[in-house]
Amino acid sequence: MQMPFPISQAPDDRMREAGRLLFAGDTDFVKGVVAMSGLPDADRPEVCFAGRSNVGKSSLINALTGRKGLARASNTPGRTQEINFFTAGDSHYIVDLPGYGFANAPVPVVEKWQRLLRAYLAGRQTLRRAFVLIDARHGAKAVDEEIMSLLDRAAVTFQCVMTKTDKVKKADLDRAMDVTRAALAKHPAAYPEIVMTSSEKGEGIETLRAIIAGID
Ligand code: GTP
Ligand code: MG
Repeated sequence: MQMPFPISQAPDDRMREAGRLLFAGDTDFVKGVVAMSGLPDADRPEVCFAGRSNVGKSSLINALTGRKGLARASNTPGRTQEINFFTAGDSHYIVDLPGYGFANAPVPVVEKWQRLLRAYLAGRQTLRRAFVLIDARHGAKAVDEEIMSLLDRAAVTFQCVMTKTDKVKKADLDRAMDVTRAALAKHPAAYPEIVMTSSEKGEGIETLRAIIAGID
């Protein structure tokens, strides 16, 4: 029997090249958005990176673009507080979202981000896919499932991306994958393949570039 939610295979040469070309083009910061009214024109396909605070969203965008300081990455959870738009060549927007599930921020601040996050995920016409990042050491948590449910309701396909694979021991990874697959199985908007990544070691970066290049 085939395992549900298999790990995404390495791209073929043609797709790898398409991914390389996409991110070899200009990758630039466009703007940080704090309200729906500030979104750039919905004039091209867009993918976003969602996930708990500190899961590695900004680091993954830096790894994809090959530009270390492009999306800010830090040890301080909750650092990315705006919806940050980046270009990948002329053809796509890449969107770095504020992390969710960060308990130590003041409640009104958290509520404001969550409202914006929800409005964006449910209401952005050109959002083709959300990548939901999950720490490979921990697997999907309740807050991740809340976002998955929101994406189900908004009919936005989401693809699970495991992060920080360089930090996980085999036994912990197996358990985290089991937990994550069980969570995904409950969500109709879940894309059937999981991507394994390490921004630190480069694992999965070519694969993710190729996946994004294939979205239009
Ligand atoms: P917020 O913007 O606060 O929601 O966080 P984020 O999801 O953007 O996480 P960020 O990219 O800032 O990374 C958080 C921490 O994890 C940083 O210290 C990164 O260096 C570290 N990190 C991110 N990706 C990896 C990885 O693949 N491997 C390892 N070892 N560390 C990573
Ligand atoms: Mg960030």
